[in-house]
Amino acid sequence: MSEMQIVGPKGLPITGSLFAFRKNPLEFLRQASKEYGDVVHMRFGPRHLYLISNPDYIKEILVTKQGHFHKAKGLQVAKAVVGEGILTSEGKQHLRQRRLMQPSFRQEHIRSYGETMVDYSEDMVNGWHDGEERLITKDMMELTLAIITKTMFGTNITEGVNDIGHAIEVGLKYVSRRASSFIDIPEAIPTRSNREFKEAAQTLDRAIYSIIEERRKSETSGQGDLLSMLLAARDEEDNTGMTDKQVRDEVMTIFVAGHETTANTLSWTLYLLSQHPEVEQKLWDEIDHVLNGRRVTVNDLPKLKYAENIIWETLRLYPAAWMINREVTDAVEIGGHVFQPGETLMMSQYVMHRTPEYFDQPDHFRPERFEGNLLKEIPQFAFFPFGGGPRVCIGNHFAIMEATLILVTIAQKFQLRLIPDHPPVEPEPVVTLRPKNGLHMIVKQR
Ligand code: HEM
Repeated sequence: MSEMQIVGPKGLPITGSLFAFRKNPLEFLRQASKEYGDVVHMRFGPRHLYLISNPDYIKEILVTKQGHFHKAKGLQVAKAVVGEGILTSEGKQHLRQRRLMQPSFRQEHIRSYGETMVDYSEDMVNGWHDGEERLITKDMMELTLAIITKTMFGTNITEGVNDIGHAIEVGLKYVSRRASSFIDIPEAIPTRSNREFKEAAQTLDRAIYSIIEERRKSETSGQGDLLSMLLAARDEEDNTGMTDKQVRDEVMTIFVAGHETTANTLSWTLYLLSQHPEVEQKLWDEIDHVLNGRRVTVNDLPKLKYAENIIWETLRLYPAAWMINREVTDAVEIGGHVFQPGETLMMSQYVMHRTPEYFDQPDHFRPERFEGNLLKEIPQFAFFPFGGGPRVCIGNHFAIMEATLILVTIAQKFQLRLIPDHPPVEPEPVVTLRPKNGLHMIVKQR
């Protein structure tokens, strides 16, 4: 096969496109794919990267030829917190852990978490006062963190677990700061943030290990919470379970992967609703018709399709996971080009989800677009908010269920609007895509 000529922005002599990318990653990538097509070459300093924007190639990378890739290096930072959990492990180890964890995330099982999700959402809105200003981005983070903590540990929360919330926050802040900071200060240097992180990590470890120990001793299977599922999981091949260290790493993994993404998605949803009263009205009509004032349950979800489509449309416009990277480990042919070990391929949900070829008026917020057969009519990887293949988001059903239940609980009682003279709301692509500087909103009782 003759090698395809790959083009891309030339960038500056030494740094290449690094600074152009850093200045505005979303628009830089979108522009690059518009200008140069399905495969764009770019250089960040000495590193060669390729932006892949063809859904069939993306499918090859994530699914059919995934054995030729590893997750890219950026995640090494996360390892400081999540160890060798399924987010960061590779190959056989990943496969085994994934097999052990999969049953806990099946739809039938996570349904039982619906009540917790609604409990916490109701507690939150019951604490809101008509007309007050709230930092909604913070409210959403606290809410999803409370929900994941409760679904993880269940009702028998031991003393000390209250510290977990704070420790996780410190840990997550550290990961996202490290991942986005240009100068990587080694962990051993005792800066304030490194010290804080160390302390937080130790608090977390102590709390988690003590809960694990208690659970192993008591031999009660818990109440179906995630931790008890992880402790009970046995590999079908050799009937062994996880070590304490593995359980600890997976607990941390789920905390890290499982709350900020959903919180940011909800923040974007509430922002979009505030900008589109016609969508908000249709949502109210659906909620009032289906629930008639009572509290939502998982059994109502099949009838709350407009609410769910609002979440899908939010994930299209502001995909919390806005880019997936893979590093080539074995030379591999994609789209007529052979990529070499060490090269990085980038796939951006943000870019793909706003491609006019697949989405009519791609920048418009229109939940109705998901009502027909859209997802069957477009290529599978034109829309991939949860990734795909063996590393597809394990929490995808959890996230959609959680986001829909929270959205419905909020919208049933409140209307949210940005405060007057709120600065323009812009997406900030850190580890996840979040509203830059947060969302300050007035909550108005309906
Ligand atoms: C709207 C919310 C969420 C979004 C947009 C999202 C997105 C993603 C994406 C794109 C991946 C694949 C990354 C890659 O292939 O490199 C992923 C992986 C993962 N997600 Fe989510 N996620 C969300 C919520 C959750 C929740 C609620 C949980 C857990 C309760 C979770 C747990 C995980 C885990 C453990 C992985 C790693 C899976 C593996 O590598 O085998 N996520 N997520």
